[in-house]
Amino acid sequence: MFVLGLQGSPRKKSNTEFLLSLFMTEAQKYGAQTHIVDVCRKHIEPCKEFTTCERKGFCPIKDDMGPEIYPLLRKADVVVPASPVFFYNVTAQLKALIDRSQTLWARNYRLKLTDPNRRMRRGFMLCQGATKGKNLFLGVDLTAKYFFDAVGAQYSGSLYYWQIEHRGDMARHPGVRDDVAAAVGELLKPYTGRKKILFASRRNAARGQIAAAFAQLMGGDKIEVMCGGKDPADKVDPLVEDVMAEKGIDMGFRIPASIEAAVEAGCPDMIVTMGCDDIETTPDAARIAWDLPDPEGEDIDSIRILRDETEKRVSELIDQLDT
Ligand SMILES: Cc1cc2nc3c(=O)[nH]c(=O)nc-3n(C[C@H](O)[C@H](O)[C@H](O)COP(=O)(O)O)c2cc1C
Repeated sequence: MFVLGLQGSPRKKSNTEFLLSLFMTEAQKYGAQTHIVDVCRKHIEPCKEFTTCERKGFCPIKDDMGPEIYPLLRKADVVVPASPVFFYNVTAQLKALIDRSQTLWARNYRLKLTDPNRRMRRGFMLCQGATKGKNLFLGVDLTAKYFFDAVGAQYSGSLYYWQIEHRGDMARHPGVRDDVAAAVGELLKPYTGRKKILFASRRNAARGQIAAAFAQLMGGDKIEVMCGGKDPADKVDPLVEDVMAEKGIDMGFRIPASIEAAVEAGCPDMIVTMGCDDIETTPDAARIAWDLPDPEGEDIDSIRILRDETEKRVSELIDQLDT
């Protein structure tokens, strides 16, 4: 399980940083792999409303969103934005990232492509501000709600703190540690106890990616899906993106990973190999070898056949897990 934090305060040693770090440390106790993006130190331009995303599914602005933030948002099982209140909303830096998530909104609502992890992904908002008015978090909460919808996450809660102003105020809050422990325990319940299945292939650009996407779609509540390649490619095969899009499945922003990187999320219970039967893995893991052909250099019709065969095998595998 991968938990992504988006730290939105520009201040060093901020209250937000404390709150988010506490949250991530608690998540690690449940076996989560965590990553915090220090949003204010990234190059993220505000949305310029080119609307390219609504027509073509990508944003033409060249900054850290394309190579880094969209892939992280896609990889995340849980997304945790954290911010101080600045004029009744999140900071401008975090808001720029949120506005740019319009690309993911457009892929889902305009281009009708479904992100395979959408059903399982959850969002949780963290925020604090100096004053005590009852409306302090109204703007933040609405922004969080629509951000989570754009990135394909179910809004699963928030922790908001009033009268936090100076450095150290959050750390001195008497209830924050208990609040975070309770919230994280509840939030991560659906992710614990799932069987970890690693789909291992040669380049992690076609077979492994297709299998992982179908496994997330069909069995995300039972399986923690991992995928990696022995010699990972730079990008997913564009024909794979095309044939999956024909079925309404969004493969955008997925990046091939090595097997070592894939298993950083934990030891798999089962490994399905596709053209890399010689890989070394944990001895306890059950192993299945699928004799699917390597599609590198093949035409689109061959990749359609591969897609359909992989879908069938994943479906059978999930049925077997139930029995
Ligand atoms: C530009 C700016 C705008 C702010 N706007 C608000 C506000 O609207 N309401 C509020 O209660 N606090 C406001 N604050 C106070 C911060 O939310 C508060 O100091 C917070 O604890 C800072 O968090 P940090 O340490 O994580 O940066 C503002 C602070 C700044 C610098």
